[in-house]
Amino acid sequence: MFHLRHTDATDKPALYADLRQQLDALIGDETDGLANLANTAALLFELLPDLNWAGFYLLRADELVLGPFQGRVACVRIALSRGVCGASATRRETVVAPDVHAFPGHIACDAASRSEVVVPLLRDDALLGVLDLDSPLAGRFDSDDARGLEALVALLVRRSDWSRLATGSDPSRTDSPNCGVT
Ligand code: SME
Repeated sequence: MFHLRHTDATDKPALYADLRQQLDALIGDETDGLANLANTAALLFELLPDLNWAGFYLLRADELVLGPFQGRVACVRIALSRGVCGASATRRETVVAPDVHAFPGHIACDAASRSEVVVPLLRDDALLGVLDLDSPLAGRFDSDDARGLEALVALLVRRSDWSRLATGSDPSRTDSPNCGVT
């Protein structure tokens, strides 16, 4: 059985260094991308304070589709032109939204969310998807979170086999039935 270790969250660089060690051990020799995404979401949701959602959206054709996550049920499909997730995917850079209500086009999956950070998953130059964290606290995420999460995502991407993930093409669906723009 794998035991996660809770560490002091006040020193964010130290916290993220510790999370990298734990993620490294949790992944071990496993290369299955789906399994590693699922355990990474669980690790982040358990060890990062003040989150109400942690998970992944994966690139399918020209939209993001819900992947492994922890938290309340979420909207399934996000167009690349929409939301914090779409902004991060399009710009291929981490986006911090200290106040989601002030972010143009923010998609409200959980009305409790007040701030958000989204980190793109990039392998070489290819976009695989995004990591999305939500918090019920305004201003929960800063540049220390952004850099720390980017390092975790880099580890996850490097150690996982993506050949059966994030490459599908499903042009038949363009709607996002349960996503509401605030
Ligand atoms: N708020 C996100 C949508 C995903 S949920 O938060 C899980 C966005 O604006 O892209």
